[in-house]
Amino acid sequence: MLEALAALEKEGQEALKALREESELPVWYREFLGRKGKLTDLLRGLGALSPEERPKAGQRANEVKTALEEAFATRQTEIKNAAMEASLASGGLDITLPGRPVSPGHLHLSTHTLRRIREIFAEMGFQVYDSPEVETDENNFELLNIPPYHPARDMWDTFWVNEQVVMRTHTSPGQIRCMRENHPHPIRVILPGKCYRYEQITPRSEHQFYQVEGLAIGHNIRITDLIGTMREFARKMHGEERRLRIRSSYFPFTEPSIEIDMDCILCVGKGCRVCKHTGWLEVAGAGMVHPVVLRNGGYDPEEWSGFAFGMGVERPAMLHHGIEDIRFFYNNDLRFLQQF
Ligand code: DAH
Repeated sequence: MLEALAALEKEGQEALKALREESELPVWYREFLGRKGKLTDLLRGLGALSPEERPKAGQRANEVKTALEEAFATRQTEIKNAAMEASLASGGLDITLPGRPVSPGHLHLSTHTLRRIREIFAEMGFQVYDSPEVETDENNFELLNIPPYHPARDMWDTFWVNEQVVMRTHTSPGQIRCMRENHPHPIRVILPGKCYRYEQITPRSEHQFYQVEGLAIGHNIRITDLIGTMREFARKMHGEERRLRIRSSYFPFTEPSIEIDMDCILCVGKGCRVCKHTGWLEVAGAGMVHPVVLRNGGYDPEEWSGFAFGMGVERPAMLHHGIEDIRFFYNNDLRFLQQF
């Protein structure tokens, strides 16, 4: 038995030395130290020994087992290190290789356009006032001088949350919130944001879209201030040579009300498909804040005056980039979005 153990130890050590690959390690382990391995085999013979021989053989068997375990661990480390050295030496790991860039994405065309609009008005001293997309009927209509059943409501049909709450149809209700929060101080803000309407969806109209509202309240504010502000905006946004045209119009919350057009950026007023051969493009609805609205906001119309305007965001972006269908803005089709 003792000779057999010594022979097994020798055989195991030599076999270990002959190993070269990591994959050979478990094979060796199974053969010598595994549950069905050679050492276990030998130990089965222990029972056949005489009681005097048995303890000695058992002790020796343990020694062989420990020795082989240790030799195995050492060899395992050697082989793993050698494999690592070889891989490094062969250039398998090139730490100078540049990392794979994470694609950062970019801003949506609407966001981009909104930021440019904000920037231009910021230069003119306009702050940004945020107001909610879910509005009361009161703010969206009544306090803007559009009572229930007023025919002007037809221009702003929308989605109702309940009988008193709507998805706002324009950014104008923000005027009321802003005035109520700031009276009796002067105001110069823009109110950018998403609006909703119950619309037939076509290449020119979506049920959701962005608007930028403007509001200035102060002493002696006149319609020429409004026109000057809009001219400055049009020139910064669409080119220094832009000219404006003012038409009279009607909105319940302004008096007088106007529509502001600018000469077509494509044909410069000559007439083309984009401006429907009129030479002009609509920029904004606007006007002097109606006395009723001023009063609803907490300002005395005898003392205060103000102008307001509301403009679209997607349409001018469409003009600039030759986009023919507003629905692309909301389809989330990367082939479209990645172009801008
Ligand atoms: N709220 C109007 C709309 O959505 C646009 C508008 C017109 C806003 C005149 C104004 C304004 O502030 O003075 O059609």
